[in-house]
Amino acid sequence: MKRATLTIVGVGPGDPELITVKGLRAIQAANVVFVPRSRKNEESFALRIAQQWLDHSRQKVVSVTLAMSRDKNESHTAWQKVADQIAENLAEIEDHQQEVHGVYLLLGDSMLYSTFAYLQAELLLHHSQIKMQFIPGITSFAATAAQAQISLAQADEKIIIVPASEQIDSKQLRSLLTDFETVILMKVGPVLPQIIKLLEELALQERVIFAEKVGMPEEYITQDLAALREKQHSYLSLLIVQQKK
Ligand SMILES: C[S@@+](CC[C@H](N)C(=O)[O-])C[C@H]1O[C@@H](n2cnc3c(N)ncnc32)[C@H](O)[C@@H]1O
Repeated sequence: MKRATLTIVGVGPGDPELITVKGLRAIQAANVVFVPRSRKNEESFALRIAQQWLDHSRQKVVSVTLAMSRDKNESHTAWQKVADQIAENLAEIEDHQQEVHGVYLLLGDSMLYSTFAYLQAELLLHHSQIKMQFIPGITSFAATAAQAQISLAQADEKIIIVPASEQIDSKQLRSLLTDFETVILMKVGPVLPQIIKLLEELALQERVIFAEKVGMPEEYITQDLAALREKQHSYLSLLIVQQKK
């Protein structure tokens, strides 16, 4: 019986050389490469990172659109469609191969704030014949710490990863910074002006590293919060705040 495997590969934050050896081997062994993007015709960052390792003469690249909606039913239907699209593409190749390997590429690590989790549920439910396996990737904050040459935690220090949102207020942030030596704020781009204001209120502006598109050609890492006000920043940005270190 023909078998289809889908390997979910975290391709790291941006630098193609930060893909793990295992991830690279899976990518190169794949017949079909699935790459997510949030809107039709939008660039897939995961594809951009893996592009140089692909051989388009023998590998099919399929873009899947993962539009997120506030309406749960709408999102659910969208996930189902993508799961079906993956199954159909694997089945098509199955017609003329004994064993089919697909890879699904995603940014950073596959298990950290990854939308694939929704897709995983749909695949398990409706396409259980596809065997899934996961290869971890280097997270955006691990790459940021390496670039900035800062230790995230040592000995008994504690670290917390939180998504930045409009709901975070100075009381919450202060309490996080009391309990944890290092606070990593992900998804910070859209609420950056508000978070900068909070950090200034807490007199923490000197204790912060901002990183945008780490590992990509547009990488921007700074400790100068004032400079950040000058332009809008990408969704692909994060802040590392270290109060006590
Ligand atoms: C949906 S989450 C995906 C996280 C990803 N799986 C990881 O392991 O880093 C998206 C958030 O990750 C962070 N991120 C991902 N790639 C990044 C990069 N190259 N530079 C800076 N932040 C990044 C940003 O905070 C962004 O809002």
